[in-house]
Amino acid sequence: MRTLESLGDLRSQTVVVRCDLNVPLKEGVITDDGRIRASLTTIRELRAAGARVVLISHLGRPNGEPEAKYSLQPVAVRMAELLESPVSFVPETVGAAATAAVAALGDGDVVLLENLRFNAGETSKDDATRRAFAEQLAAFGQAFVSDGFGVVHRKQASVYDLAQLLPSAAGRLVAGELEVLKRLTESPQRPYTVVLGGSKVSDKLGVISHLLQRVDTLLIGGGMLFTFLAAQGHKVGASLLESDQLDTVRGYLAEADRLGVRIVLPTDIVVAEAFAADAAHEVVAADAIESSSFGAAGLGLDIGPETAKAFASVIEESSTVFWNGPMGVFEMAAFAEGTRTVARALTETQGFTVVGGGDSAAAVRALGFADDQFGHISTGGGASLEYLEGKALPGLEVLA
Ligand code: 3PG
Repeated sequence: MRTLESLGDLRSQTVVVRCDLNVPLKEGVITDDGRIRASLTTIRELRAAGARVVLISHLGRPNGEPEAKYSLQPVAVRMAELLESPVSFVPETVGAAATAAVAALGDGDVVLLENLRFNAGETSKDDATRRAFAEQLAAFGQAFVSDGFGVVHRKQASVYDLAQLLPSAAGRLVAGELEVLKRLTESPQRPYTVVLGGSKVSDKLGVISHLLQRVDTLLIGGGMLFTFLAAQGHKVGASLLESDQLDTVRGYLAEADRLGVRIVLPTDIVVAEAFAADAAHEVVAADAIESSSFGAAGLGLDIGPETAKAFASVIEESSTVFWNGPMGVFEMAAFAEGTRTVARALTETQGFTVVGGGDSAAAVRALGFADDQFGHISTGGGASLEYLEGKALPGLEVLA
């Protein structure tokens, strides 16, 4: 993997830096600036080397055209605060204004261009279209730094094509993330526990089958747990259920048995009358969800306290823990306890802990934990899962 050193002396060179500044926003206000903070090391180093820094990123999933709610403008403001130095913002990604702003940069200056995904070329499946957009981006500089770890699994213009058009290298964030993930895949200290949550089993299929070959224990929470319960023959009321995944999940349970891997499923569930912060709720046994006062209309929104305690004790006895996906609807206080208990256990274990994914990272911060209470908080959700799945990631392959 080529790192910044391979780019040589960058004084007065214009360097295009692909960051993942895809931060959560609520009514234009950034609710978790973790990804901006994580990008600072590389930017500071480039500035100190006298480079002229052109930052590019996506935010959200706009459809190839400008959409005000996905503007990176608030990110430029926050970036300037954190760098304690001006960051100019250009309300277009490519075009005359962007070209002029880049040309006006002095050594150590920083500009952030507007959301890459306002241009259809960024995510196009057509190689020539993507390449043409990457060429416009390449024209801005003399070198390219790939530092958007959260997006290295995407074969997109600014991640994959651009890296082939300029001398390119991984930034410090990407290099650091890879070091940690290698530790998880190459020689994890045992017992190795993976905690999976989040809503969809279908998002995690690849990783579950891959992890079964590698881990000692898999703890299952979040919306996906109901598909596991249903696969065991239990009724789950109105909880999230992916019926088309039942056979696959049954296959995982059988495979885990065969390999001697423990899959730990919840024994109790917080069941609510409705999907709302103030909904009536009660704790019931996981195999009797429809026995709550809400009957078949009740929906599970968090793991119960007995489960959270059991998960915590497995985590505390583990030497390596990787966690992806909240245990419940942590944004609502009544359904945050499972996620909080798991997060606390990660901070208390002596083992090496990695929190993977935008949602899980945002969850631990929203619940009041500090980044340095964990071994590592990854900025990449899909990217870290695909890495753990053993997939080739296009944005890393081009930096090999
Ligand atoms: C993420 O949030 O995981 C990254 O920013 C990638 O975003 P994407 O899934 O929209 O490509």
